[in-house]
Amino acid sequence: MCLAGSYGGKPILVGRRMSALLDLQSELASRFGVVSEVVAADQSTEDGRARIAAKVEELDAIAALLAAGVTSVGQFDVNKISDYHSLIETNVLGFTDLLACIVNIFKRRRSETAILAISSLGAETSLPYQAVYGASKAYITTLIQALSVELRGAGVSVGTFVPGGIDTAMAAHSDLRWGRMGLMDADRCAALAVEALVRQRRMTVPGLGNGLAYLASRTLPRHLVGRVAALPYRRPE
Ligand SMILES: NC(=O)c1ccc[n+]([C@@H]2O[C@H](COP(=O)([O-])OP(=O)(O)OC[C@H]3O[C@@H](n4cnc5c(N)ncnc54)[C@H](OP(=O)(O)O)[C@@H]3O)[C@@H](O)[C@H]2O)c1
Repeated sequence: MCLAGSYGGKPILVGRRMSALLDLQSELASRFGVVSEVVAADQSTEDGRARIAAKVEELDAIAALLAAGVTSVGQFDVNKISDYHSLIETNVLGFTDLLACIVNIFKRRRSETAILAISSLGAETSLPYQAVYGASKAYITTLIQALSVELRGAGVSVGTFVPGGIDTAMAAHSDLRWGRMGLMDADRCAALAVEALVRQRRMTVPGLGNGLAYLASRTLPRHLVGRVAALPYRRPE
């Protein structure tokens, strides 16, 4: 929405649910007169990634915002291993393979290209009660940092966007002690992510509160940071 509204971009909308994509597509058309493409595809499957990459190639896309992600909430040993499988297949394996495909396509473009991956402040703090999710985001942050060095001079900028809690469906399902309090507005967060993509920022921590939390995560002892990061979660009885 922000890409179309503020920058006149013609996005390729990706997700698993075609109905949600079609709703967004018609909203973009009616509000901004923007023609967008939809690809109903699952990032965790080879076929899904191939179809996303094919559309990126076909439409000469020059920017990618990699935001697909899933979480798993609760005590580590209580969660089902199948939850961890699908989380890792989406956030780690699927993300890595799709990223590699897009980097490969973008390296062949004549114009400058940009990729922004949505990580999380949990990558910096560790996330007790969302531990595997936090670890998957730490993977994304580290991978992108390494790539940003490898790709210097290749015409492909890569960066991470590192939000704290955002007021979305994911947060609503995260069993947070204080509900929506302290969560960043989703539209505001999305606007800052799009700006980071357009300006090709290496790393963006959106909002003052998240900025302070990020600084604290770099300076305070790790175990203390982890304990503070656990506070918003309800403890098991
Ligand atoms: N909410 C937070 O507090 C928070 C904080 C920090 C970072 N983040 C990150 O922000 C990003 C967006 O999350 P959100 O809060 O908007 O979560 P959300 O409300 O659950 O939305 C997740 C989005 O990812 C898509 N998606 C999920 N799995 C997919 C798959 N396998 N293949 C393709 N698309 C898939 C979903 O579309 P479909 O369901 O149609 O597939 C949906 O559009 C994620 O990377 C998340 O980790 C969120």
